[in-house]
Amino acid sequence: MIVGVKHLAIVAAYLGGVFAKRHHATGRSLVAPVGAEVLTVGVIGDYGWTGWTPNPDHFCLEVLPQLQAANITIPMEVVNDCDPGDRTYISNATALQTDTASYVGQVCSMKNCSALISVGDNFYDSGVDFTTGGILRFQAAWVDMYSQGVFDYIPWYQCLGNHDVVKGQSGVDFETKVAPIYDDRWYFGTKGLPYYSYDLIGKDWNATFVVLDSDCFINKYQENTSVYYNEYTQKCHKQKRHQVEFLKNEFAKSKADWKFIQLHHPYMSSAGNFSELLPIVEVVEKHNGIVLNGHDHCLAHYVYNSTNYILSGAAGYPQAGDCNNGVKLGPFAKFLGANEETAANGFVTLDISKSSVNVEYYVRDMQFIDGDLYTVAHDLKPLYQFKITEHAK
Ligand SMILES: *[C@@H]1O[C@H](CO)[C@@H](O)[C@H](O)[C@H]1NC(C)=O
Ligand SMILES: *[C@@H]1O[C@H](CO)[C@@H](O)[C@H](O)[C@H]1NC(C)=O
Ligand SMILES: *[C@@H]1O[C@H](CO)[C@@H](O)[C@H](O)[C@H]1NC(C)=O
Ligand SMILES: *[C@@H]1O[C@H](CO)[C@@H](O)[C@H](O)[C@H]1NC(C)=O
Ligand SMILES: *[C@@H]1O[C@H](CO)[C@@H](O)[C@H](O)[C@H]1NC(C)=O
Ligand SMILES: *[C@@H]1O[C@H](CO)[C@@H](O)[C@H](O)[C@H]1NC(C)=O
Ligand SMILES: *[C@@H]1O[C@H](CO)[C@@H](O)[C@H](O)[C@H]1NC(C)=O
Repeated sequence: MIVGVKHLAIVAAYLGGVFAKRHHATGRSLVAPVGAEVLTVGVIGDYGWTGWTPNPDHFCLEVLPQLQAANITIPMEVVNDCDPGDRTYISNATALQTDTASYVGQVCSMKNCSALISVGDNFYDSGVDFTTGGILRFQAAWVDMYSQGVFDYIPWYQCLGNHDVVKGQSGVDFETKVAPIYDDRWYFGTKGLPYYSYDLIGKDWNATFVVLDSDCFINKYQENTSVYYNEYTQKCHKQKRHQVEFLKNEFAKSKADWKFIQLHHPYMSSAGNFSELLPIVEVVEKHNGIVLNGHDHCLAHYVYNSTNYILSGAAGYPQAGDCNNGVKLGPFAKFLGANEETAANGFVTLDISKSSVNVEYYVRDMQFIDGDLYTVAHDLKPLYQFKITEHAK
């Protein structure tokens, strides 16, 4: 009876073109519950396509080159919104984000996820900023996209990726300061900074997560031709020691059983290793920590120098090349969610307890009208899993 009424309400809301959901603007973000023997969280990345409108062909192909020839300064976000690859992906990417959102919701309600942990690229192509356009994107790509079932009440511990910083300080401010007030499920620390830490506290265990903005470490983004070159990235690049010091302090003072670093770019990858992240990785290695990252649009597990690297970048547009079409480049690659045709959508869950972190890779069966590009016979079961049992130091 109650269920029937709720369904009717949802249908009515759809028909009305509005989502009659609670999205409290309490000024205080939700957090994961304290005291569980086993707490399950989902790790998700590279998803935010919905509502992005690329620039028109006429502008990108004909006007843009002429502006460039005339030495007219073109905002980086405008250049970025002409990205030829992303322009071809957009229609599929929106559908894939939507299908994957419902898949993540299904797995998470089955597994009772208590939080989602983002590894960035929350909004393609040029993030969001504090404009009406930014607010509409935020509403479409995140608030409404992740609103049904389990999504309605669990917090997202957020993180910035390269697409989130294209608009510079204004984009960063939106995600770190405006979004947490807009919707209480959006968590970005308590200080309005692009890096922060939080603890998940169980019955007899603790886990410390340090979230960094890896954009500040990437050397290529400091070239003045890069779409990521702006006043924010220039400044935070000069101050990247602050983030490393922050990580050192947080990990040193934490007595937690598990220590995680949550950031966007990969130090270990099948497509491109960002060796600039070494100062971060050294701290992680010292504390026997675990790395959660995105950026590569696929799912993978790497082990390098005894450190686990969990890649979860497959909640939007998956790309086979990012996981080297499923071909392992070396013994560091333990699992790649890709084949010669495609990478698969999906995400990763962590079941955290005193004795272990159980890591499960949920990989969506990639059914298309004209075939099944990535066949997973039972996609509500993990395709790949491993357990971490050695505690942090
Ligand atoms: C889901 O997990 C939370 C946190 O551990 C717990 O409080 C809650 O009882 C669980 N719900 C179900 C249905 O198991
Ligand atoms: C644009 O700038 C370049 C380099 O400064 C110069 O060589 C060129 O003549 C300029 N073109 C125009 C149309 O002003
Ligand atoms: C979009 O998806 C269809 C399958 O539904 C595929 O045939 C097509 O190549 C895809 N396009 C792009 C640009 O990925
Ligand atoms: C977890 O952290 C809290 C706060 O720092 C602390 O009071 C508690 O003793 C810790 N519990 C465990 C099991 O480490
Ligand atoms: C960009 O950098 C190059 C090389 O460092 C320099 O020659 C050029 O003047 C710079 N252009 C602008 C617009 O700052
Ligand atoms: C990343 O580093 C590992 C370990 O050194 C190496 O085997 C792998 O080939 C590197 N990845 C790429 C894409 O070069
Ligand atoms: C890997 O471990 C070795 C030996 O402990 C260390 O010297 C090296 O710096 C580590 N490499 C990386 C990339 O972290």
